[in-house]
Amino acid sequence: MKATVIIPAAGSGRRMGGSISKQYLELAGKPILAHTLTLFENHPLIEHIYLVVPAGDIAYCQEQIVDRYSFSKVARIVAGGSERQDSVSHGLDAVAQDGLDQPLRPILIHDGARPLFDCQHLSLLIEAVCDTGACTIGVPVKDTIKTVENSTITNSPERSRLWQVQTPQGFQYQLIRDAFDRAAADGFVATDDASLVERLGHPVKMLEGDYRNIKVTTPEDILIAVALLGGTP
Ligand code: C5P
Repeated sequence: MKATVIIPAAGSGRRMGGSISKQYLELAGKPILAHTLTLFENHPLIEHIYLVVPAGDIAYCQEQIVDRYSFSKVARIVAGGSERQDSVSHGLDAVAQDGLDQPLRPILIHDGARPLFDCQHLSLLIEAVCDTGACTIGVPVKDTIKTVENSTITNSPERSRLWQVQTPQGFQYQLIRDAFDRAAADGFVATDDASLVERLGHPVKMLEGDYRNIKVTTPEDILIAVALLGGTP
């Protein structure tokens, strides 16, 4: 079954600094967001793309991203919200308004700020979503991770059990809808979508991706992304 992808790209980019939103910064001559959209535009298992951007950027994104690079799969550009979770929720609403809310339809969610995802993982991800309902891409952590409160380490979880979660994350439509509805009712906010499904007690499969799939967040990530793309900034 072909999948629909929601791309949240409505963050403020505060951690990047500078005046231009990070998703419009150019990497190898093309905006980060255009790199990300290209991954899904070119993949045969992706049918529709729902792009979520700040309300004031919708016209700019239509002209400078979607039209300029001829992304034909972008079904709609939707206004985001104040948290990432709100932005994804607006994307889900748009998917439902367009009649793509069949309970088993695979819905992928991918950060606009991850332009280096290797789409070779997509078929396995969609297959796992169809089989189990929920799956995310991630990688085992390389560093030792601590929890810290008031500048003091409070816990040192065993590294061999820790994974760094990435996107895309994929879910059957009804499961992710239920997870968002429950989170809204409980006032629960998380930084990824799998967390909302975990709270329902539904297992989420972890599929190993690769370390290139960075989220371009702080200025040094630009240097890393350029190096990984093998181009010039
Ligand atoms: O803030 P964070 O780094 O977790 O953002 C991950 C992705 O979510 C980015 O692509 C960002 O643009 C998007 N986001 C969003 N709406 C927000 C905050 C973040 O779409 N309010």
